[in-house]
Amino acid sequence: MKLARVTAADMAAVDLSQIDLFDAAYHAEGDPHAAWAVMRERAPLHLSRLPDGRSFFNVTRYHDACRVLGDHREFTSERGSLLGQLGHDDAAAGRMLVATDPPRHSELRRPLNKMFTGRGLARSEDRIRTAVRSLLAPAPGGDAWDIAQRATMLPMAIAGALMDLPEPHWADLVRWTGMAAAPQDPVFMIRNPHATLAIAHHQLFEYFATQYEARKDTEGDDAFRLLMTMRDGELTREEVVVNCYSLLLGANATTPHTVAGTVLALMENPEQFRAVRENPELVPALVEEGLRWTSPASSFLRYAVEDVEIAGGVVPKGEAVAVWVGSANRDAEVFADPYRFDVRRADNRHIAFGYGAHYCLGATVARLTLRMLFEEVLDRFEEFVPAGEPSHLTSNFVAGFTSLPIRAVPRRSEAVAGT
Ligand code: HEM
Repeated sequence: MKLARVTAADMAAVDLSQIDLFDAAYHAEGDPHAAWAVMRERAPLHLSRLPDGRSFFNVTRYHDACRVLGDHREFTSERGSLLGQLGHDDAAAGRMLVATDPPRHSELRRPLNKMFTGRGLARSEDRIRTAVRSLLAPAPGGDAWDIAQRATMLPMAIAGALMDLPEPHWADLVRWTGMAAAPQDPVFMIRNPHATLAIAHHQLFEYFATQYEARKDTEGDDAFRLLMTMRDGELTREEVVVNCYSLLLGANATTPHTVAGTVLALMENPEQFRAVRENPELVPALVEEGLRWTSPASSFLRYAVEDVEIAGGVVPKGEAVAVWVGSANRDAEVFADPYRFDVRRADNRHIAFGYGAHYCLGATVARLTLRMLFEEVLDRFEEFVPAGEPSHLTSNFVAGFTSLPIRAVPRRSEAVAGT
């Protein structure tokens, strides 16, 4: 996937009848940004038909995306919210946060909100900073290192701390969530995508079921135990397990790709790196622009509850709609010069964390982590330089990287201290 400017020539090369946005490989090797640009301009409600007879509508404009994600009375999450599940109703509907509509959704979410914002996060800050420092640790030697690969461990410090998961388990959990998020990617695939997903789900559900048993009759104020004791233990073991799974997937599948994609954007736009280095107060804006630019949660699915008129057409009752978040975040109606990576962008209303009731539960902690990371980066490095070609993730759900080799040039004071 190319993240940079879409030109008129790129758009002219797009033949929508030949584009298959369901195909995970297209997102790694093709140019979905060019296809989305054409859809926004000429086909804002585009129907995709798969060879096996399944079909779904694509929504690519910002305001349409917000409407589909944000209005559960028109578009439900209870038949699954991932494109990969198309046509197979989600077994966790009405039980797992992301696959539950209000009002039940609000009952599940309200107790969790506090833990994922403000003071609830304060006790995780030290662990997150330690993880950020260890992510950057191999850099100063000047050798090439792979920031995309190393960043995969970073969200474990978030989710691991919030859910009190033992550190020796983190590497397995990262591998299994990688398999669950991108079963078609050669880095994760075991035999075939179907088997990969089945193995990942089995491992993760079994892991959380074991952790559940181990926590019974023990004390703690982590998110895992909160789910177990929520509303006087109202959630069954299976409900706790699927929500733990969703929390971990939410954290692991996304955050590392914003790290890698933002670093790539800074290498492609060194003047932006300089601007932030000279004005460290721009770090929060860098994080927001990095989120808009990378939009790692690439697609979410909804199903029409009734016939719904939208984007100049009608989605018939019961049909699926894929919202392309990365497209909405490049909509020129909302973002001036949308293909420019700009840390001084005014009014950056990106929807990388979604929109409405399902707005990302982990948004505050993800922002905190990304800010800490780029603060440490500015403290240590003059710039990043490419040390090889990036490899993009094979996935229609997550836009990201499996590899981004770089070299980090230490700041002069660091270089002197290190000699
Ligand atoms: C850069 C990082 C992240 C991005 C871009 C991101 C993106 C998103 C998006 C777009 C949604 C909306 C899903 C929908 O509308 O169906 C979402 C929901 C969610 N995210 Fe994140 N996420 C990130 C980090 C995290 C982290 C760190 C956690 C956990 C610690 C997390 C946990 C969740 C959960 C549990 C939901 C479901 C919320 C609900 O249904 O109410 N995410 N995320």
